[in-house]
Amino acid sequence: MTIHIGAKSGEIAETVLMPGDPYRAKWAAETFLDDAALVNDVRGMLGFTGTWKGHRVTIQGSGMGMPSLSIYANELIRDYGARTLIRIGSCGGMQNAVQLRDVILAMTATTLSTPSRGILRELNFAPCADWGLLRAAARAAEAKGTKCHVGGIYSSDVFYDERPDLNEQMVRHGILGVEMEAAELYLLAARHGCRALAVLTVSDHLLTGDALPSADRERSFGDMVEIALQAAFP
Ligand code: ADE
Repeated sequence: MTIHIGAKSGEIAETVLMPGDPYRAKWAAETFLDDAALVNDVRGMLGFTGTWKGHRVTIQGSGMGMPSLSIYANELIRDYGARTLIRIGSCGGMQNAVQLRDVILAMTATTLSTPSRGILRELNFAPCADWGLLRAAARAAEAKGTKCHVGGIYSSDVFYDERPDLNEQMVRHGILGVEMEAAELYLLAARHGCRALAVLTVSDHLLTGDALPSADRERSFGDMVEIALQAAFP
């Protein structure tokens, strides 16, 4: 047990999928895993461990934002021995070529700040995905026929952003989409010698103002879970 995860030693798999929403962790575990068992419900941040094609997998909610993800990823890595961590979540599109329901594989995650700012100080570290996971996810998306973009994303600390000028610079510099967790996940993976990737579905669009209805979100979310599992076990 850790402060935020109630699982016993050995109940967390080396491969962990991390949706922001704990109810999506439940849905994904019940839909895709065999013999899924609840291993954490501290603070309602549900986590399940089961198997996918014989491979042990944990699906653990991360909560929203980098401070929350940082708590769960730190404890999963340091106390439970997680080695491969894949965020599965939604993002806002930031390029005209990126459309609702498309998948974005985050090669890099630009930020203004992360919970790691205190140790990095003036260093502009470049958080990036694990190449093997990224390549396998791109192949999995292609094989499924899912429209997929690979490139840089922006990990923001604010959903209701009051800096249109900053978003303009992101768009101008080719950032594909915005979410709120990946940069800290990539930083922690780098620090602890783990593998990390963020697989994201475009749920809304900053340039058009469009957003997916909630029924569509679930279907797109399923594609993402499959891509993440195939990337982890190609
Ligand atoms: N996640 C999904 N859409 C988002 C947005 N527009 N901004 C930040 N995070 C998001």
